[in-house]
Amino acid sequence: MKFLFVTVFLSVYARSVISLFCYWNTGCPYNYFSSRTPYNAARGDIRDSVIKLTDCEPISIWGLVRHGKRNPGAELALTMKNAIVIREYVVSSYENGNSSLCAQDIENLRELGADYGMFENAYQLSEEGYQEMMDIGKRFKQAFPKLLNKLESQSYTFRPAFGNWMQKSAEGFVNGLANGNLDIEKATTDFDIMDPYTTCGKYQRDVKKNPEIYLESNKYLETTEFLATKDRIQRRLGIDYPLTNENISALYDLCRYTWSSKDKMSPWCALFTTEDLKVLEYAGDLKHYYRNGYGNSINALLGQIPLSDLFKSFQLAKDGKGKKIIAYFTHATMMDMLYTALNLFKDDVELTGALRNPDRKWRTSKLSIFGANMFAVLNRCNRENKTDYNVVFYLNEEPLKPICEQGVCTWEEFENKFKTMNSNTDMCQFKSVPYI
Ligand SMILES: *[C@@H]1O[C@H](CO)[C@@H](O)[C@H](O)[C@H]1NC(C)=O
Ligand SMILES: *[C@@H]1O[C@H](CO)[C@@H](O)[C@H](O)[C@H]1NC(C)=O
Ligand SMILES: *[C@@H]1O[C@H](CO)[C@@H](O)[C@H](O)[C@H]1NC(C)=O
Repeated sequence: MKFLFVTVFLSVYARSVISLFCYWNTGCPYNYFSSRTPYNAARGDIRDSVIKLTDCEPISIWGLVRHGKRNPGAELALTMKNAIVIREYVVSSYENGNSSLCAQDIENLRELGADYGMFENAYQLSEEGYQEMMDIGKRFKQAFPKLLNKLESQSYTFRPAFGNWMQKSAEGFVNGLANGNLDIEKATTDFDIMDPYTTCGKYQRDVKKNPEIYLESNKYLETTEFLATKDRIQRRLGIDYPLTNENISALYDLCRYTWSSKDKMSPWCALFTTEDLKVLEYAGDLKHYYRNGYGNSINALLGQIPLSDLFKSFQLAKDGKGKKIIAYFTHATMMDMLYTALNLFKDDVELTGALRNPDRKWRTSKLSIFGANMFAVLNRCNRENKTDYNVVFYLNEEPLKPICEQGVCTWEEFENKFKTMNSNTDMCQFKSVPYI
């Protein structure tokens, strides 16, 4: 009798506790969506964080920028489109009293259209993505007014990796920087320093197209942590339709691709609790870690290629023959490889499917976000009639402190770190032909 009372009490209590989580009125919704994190969720602001050193002036800027928010590719778009029907199941389970979602979340979900422009324009830069790029350009201009106010021809280089969304990202950045009228170099389908992996045979064969790189992230999908998450989602939605990993992944994509910095949140995200989102985020971290990061040794070598370009560019600038600004536009893959080449955000213990360390350094939601960027600024300093140089690093508009003291490298430190960076593709062994 007593036992019965306790269980009845507990189940009533548990129901009301569960239904307390509403997404629509969460003051600060979790918006770390691995490589689909909006730039505004994780950026700093170069206007506030620019390091001003007395007796120094910036003379050259070099940067690598990931494209802004873009639409899903065609295959993913189809999977996402198919999953939209799950919304009907959720709404009717709510009406039957079987779902513990909140009334307002259900209403927002019900009112969502099913007609998403992003499905028709695979891989295109979204409006929000263009805006992200333009805003970065604007802020850089404000942070470095003397250097960037007037960009004569020959004083700059802007070049995207191949692809329409890369080109548009470069245009957005340049428009923010200079209201257009600057030339953007043509992308090449051949080897280029901002995406050397696309033509790198060994990388394409042994890493990119090798299913084994997903071993750890697949293992994670079998852990009790992941299975509990899956079960939690299924019970919250209260639907009879048994959700597969693919279904959950498609719903997660609907959440993160429709989440907008402007309107703040997507009703699709109401299907997940913060804990669920953290679990899904880790599955993404594992993929990036093995495909582009510390999980494979070729990644660091590929990441060194643009860094050797940075070194050469600043050497020229130091000799008075450099550019005011160089910026390349590329994929998350390159950003991940860059961090790896610089030995940044490296955990002491390898990331594996067996354990999600909440304090890990490798977090794609901070590192491989839409619009992610790393900039280096070369300063010329005149102290006691002596000219000296230093290099300041910024990641997503904040000083990149782990690289040198407070993010500021003396020229000697810079030279020591960067002069040995690999600039060739010998490790690729053979050339792979992309884009056919
Ligand atoms: C759920 O996933 C399975 C494959 O795991 C797929 O066949 C099915 O179409 C998906 N359902 C929806 C509604 O997308
Ligand atoms: C709601 O849950 C009850 C009890 O588990 C079940 O019998 C019923 O079929 C469910 N209804 C729907 C629409 O899922
Ligand atoms: C710097 O140079 C100026 C002019 O050449 C000279 O007058 C001054 O004493 C020098 N200052 C120092 C600290 O050497």
